Amino acid sequence: PSAAVPVQAVQVEPETGVGAPVSLTILYGTQTGNAEQMASDIAGIAGHRGFAPRVIPLDGISLAELAGLKRLLIVTSTYGQGEMPDTARSFWEALTADNAPDLSGLSFSLMSMGDSGYETFCAAGQAIDARLQALGARTIEPRVDCDVNYAAIAFPWADRALAAIRQVEGEENLAPTDDLAAATVTRSKWTLRNPYTATMTTNRHLSGPASEKDTRHIELDLGDSGLAYEAGDCIGVLPTNDPALVDAFLEHYATCAHQAVAGEDRPLGTLLAQAYEISTPSRELVAEVARRSRDEELRHVLENDDRQALDAWLYGRDILDLLGMMPKDALPLGELLGLLKPLQHRAYSIASSPKEHPGSIHLTVAAVRYHAHGRDRKGVASTFLAERVGEGRTVPIFLSPNRAFRVPENDDAPMIMIGPGTGIAPFRAFLQERRARGAKGRNWLFFGDRSQASDFLYQNDLEGMQASGLLTRLDLAFSRDQAEKIYVQQRMRENARELYAWLEDGGHLYVCGDATRMAADVEAALLDIIASAGGHSADTAEAYLDRLRREKRYARDVY
Ligand code: 2AM
Repeated sequence: PSAAVPVQAVQVEPETGVGAPVSLTILYGTQTGNAEQMASDIAGIAGHRGFAPRVIPLDGISLAELAGLKRLLIVTSTYGQGEMPDTARSFWEALTADNAPDLSGLSFSLMSMGDSGYETFCAAGQAIDARLQALGARTIEPRVDCDVNYAAIAFPWADRALAAIRQVEGEENLAPTDDLAAATVTRSKWTLRNPYTATMTTNRHLSGPASEKDTRHIELDLGDSGLAYEAGDCIGVLPTNDPALVDAFLEHYATCAHQAVAGEDRPLGTLLAQAYEISTPSRELVAEVARRSRDEELRHVLENDDRQALDAWLYGRDILDLLGMMPKDALPLGELLGLLKPLQHRAYSIASSPKEHPGSIHLTVAAVRYHAHGRDRKGVASTFLAERVGEGRTVPIFLSPNRAFRVPENDDAPMIMIGPGTGIAPFRAFLQERRARGAKGRNWLFFGDRSQASDFLYQNDLEGMQASGLLTRLDLAFSRDQAEKIYVQQRMRENARELYAWLEDGGHLYVCGDATRMAADVEAALLDIIASAGGHSADTAEAYLDRLRREKRYARDVY
């Protein structure tokens, strides 16, 4: 099967240069693994162009080393409200310190990844770009700011940047530097553009019939793919759109699935199913609809450039709703296609350890379904996995490594995991990993969901782990089993002293799940706990948490 995502083809030229490969450092700042995947993809291309690339996180390089480099590419995402991603925080701290070194020997180019749905779109990359230049570094190719559909901008940028490095240096002067000559490129054979077709062997309900949610345990067989993952990694899933939604589009335009599309090999029905995002509108589409529909409310929202108001207006509305606001012929199909975003892959945290399940990948998937503006709505990838693939059928996937999210190297170190809802996934993997390693360190899990009776995901697994002693503590927060909401952070606060004691004993703390509210609330609770149980002020509690982060003892996998 071909990839479901149309991306600009990358022209990979064979190595043309004579002599030894040229060293090239590619730094990344990542939160969910996209930037890291991008960095390693670029390394693959650079390898074909005669470079010897190495890929390391921004936090993995000292400024002294940076000052000694000649050429550098940076790929970074932005996290939350314009913050640095977790793997770039200490780098940024050092870069903005008064004693930051002169970088006038360095030529670089930066690619910023973000989501234009946020006001602080690409802020982290913009800040790093500006600061490097302020310290004397030279831009070899202007920065690009990429939206969620980054491939079409990112790969041409990489192309230009690699060509510019060659030009700047002059082909003859491209001698390898000793420290990097031995650098190797590690690149999974299976990528976004060349995904592995995994067979779904299991698809069963984790939530009970009475649950308001539908959460599944899914197992994918890795066959002879050779795909090697680690506990903590994610996979990218290339979904197919809901056929009912595709039909609704065809019906709206009074056409059929076989209709040919100019410049495309695939007919319209296939393109709508596999190539375009047909639920969430692009900014350009919203703007066009506002223009052509003359809808007063939408025009007003857009005129004031109020991102929050626009988000509120868009909530629960999809592309079909927008089409329904206009006369049928106001936006011809060909024009609509030009305004659609390419269908994105979705990342899922792996819920198994390869040590216990070497040939398969487990996922914990909450099928997103809701009713809004008079129609039933479905999450693209979650319902693809939950209801449209089915056991025995296949899913295109690729590995999205998350090296910042690993069990402690030290098997004796205590581990504290906070994973409400589907945030449980990587912690099931971590616990399996520790069991397989015979790790003796204590393990503490905070899990929460709506109701104990129907949403206690992996109850048997977890209770078994508790009975065997693998899980030292299991603290539960079922939010809707009583009048007042109880969340995981309340359980953390109730156990402030002991939690702090675990941290003082060298504990590693992990958070997985909802990024918008949960992760921030959990962090606030954590700071309160450090302050109260550790006798810290607000400032020194922040410093304590920063130290944990730097020591890689506070890691998050949030979405
Ligand atoms: P709720 O849906 O009842 O509000 C997994 O989704 C669990 O996380 C649910 O019990 C959900 O509760 C809870 N949850 C919602 N918002 C949260 C937050 N800000 N912090 C922690 N847990 C939250």
